[in-house]
Amino acid sequence: MTKKILILAGDGIGKEIVAEALKVIDTLKTDFALDVELTHGEIGGAAYDADGHPYPPATQALAKEADAILLGAVGGYQYDDLPRDVRPERGLLGIRADLELFSNLRPAILNEELADASSLKPEIVAGLDIMIVRELTGGIYFGEPRGIRTLENGEKQGYNTLVYKESEIERIAHSAFKIAMQRDKRLCSVGKANVLEVMELWHDVVERVGKEYPEVELSHMYVDNAAMQLVKEPKQFDVMVTGNMFGDILSDAAAMLTGSIGMLPSASLDKNGKGMYEPIHGSAPDIAGKNIANPLATITSVSMMLRYSLDQADLAQKIDDAVESVLKQGLRTADIYVEGQKSTTLVSTSEIGDAVVASLKA
Ligand code: IPM
Ligand code: MG
Repeated sequence: MTKKILILAGDGIGKEIVAEALKVIDTLKTDFALDVELTHGEIGGAAYDADGHPYPPATQALAKEADAILLGAVGGYQYDDLPRDVRPERGLLGIRADLELFSNLRPAILNEELADASSLKPEIVAGLDIMIVRELTGGIYFGEPRGIRTLENGEKQGYNTLVYKESEIERIAHSAFKIAMQRDKRLCSVGKANVLEVMELWHDVVERVGKEYPEVELSHMYVDNAAMQLVKEPKQFDVMVTGNMFGDILSDAAAMLTGSIGMLPSASLDKNGKGMYEPIHGSAPDIAGKNIANPLATITSVSMMLRYSLDQADLAQKIDDAVESVLKQGLRTADIYVEGQKSTTLVSTSEIGDAVVASLKA
């Protein structure tokens, strides 16, 4: 049956990078019989400009109907002074919550060819392959109460609440254990149980769920230590599972180990495997419209979509191989280009996208 994919390009470089991913999807349709139908919607600042809301009802309706969603990025300086409720980021948080996309998979894999682009020594990162499983619809991002209040003495106080229910911890733990089962069967749960009661509960629930996965070797780490270990000895990790905010922070750090945040895709899944797929980088307004952004994370987000929501692992592998081949050819966008490195060529967003398509067709 024809699957419906909703395309939400968003803001900043979102439009350019999604355009390259669309070339790839078109090629899969014409040359590999991929049976999908695309719809387009607005989200983030672009949606605010059009409809006055970053996640308008029209987009909500399209999102509910879709089998999978491809998102570019949201955000831009021009929206910084808007009320918090209508800022672009609220669109992203809104769709994650609305569709209950609680399980966020952020793989950090180092393409061999890019070992020199990492800020760490090649031997520390060579062969790196980590999966960060981030809880995405709970924790301090959504906890109530929240706000900025005025105290009796007239001083203002900002407050947010870090909360997790057992059921929320259980479902993300199951996601992470299942992924670990398909990989090296090692799971590290990252928390802060030495200070926060909520992370003490997190620890206990993950332990309990772990009894159902006796083959998986479970360990626990405090988040500060995990941040240090990620830059010191990243290859010790296989799968990491953590809460919303810790996962936000650790996944940026893990991404950079691979040379560029412009290389990493992500999947955000609900309990039935319906998912939203997006590069983990942001809208990069400083380079928007210049045809220099790296579209590879968006292209490999399509590959994750094929694998996790569309049951097309073969086509996913074709995309991954095409990306690998383009890197082997030495093609590099600015973020992964290392001055003076032999046999590499600096190329634009559209040139590297075209090269992926050419490699798919080859
Ligand atoms: C991410 C981003 C978002 C987050 C922002 C844009 C709201 O940083 O997807 O990691 O904090 O979750
Ligand atoms: Mg982030």
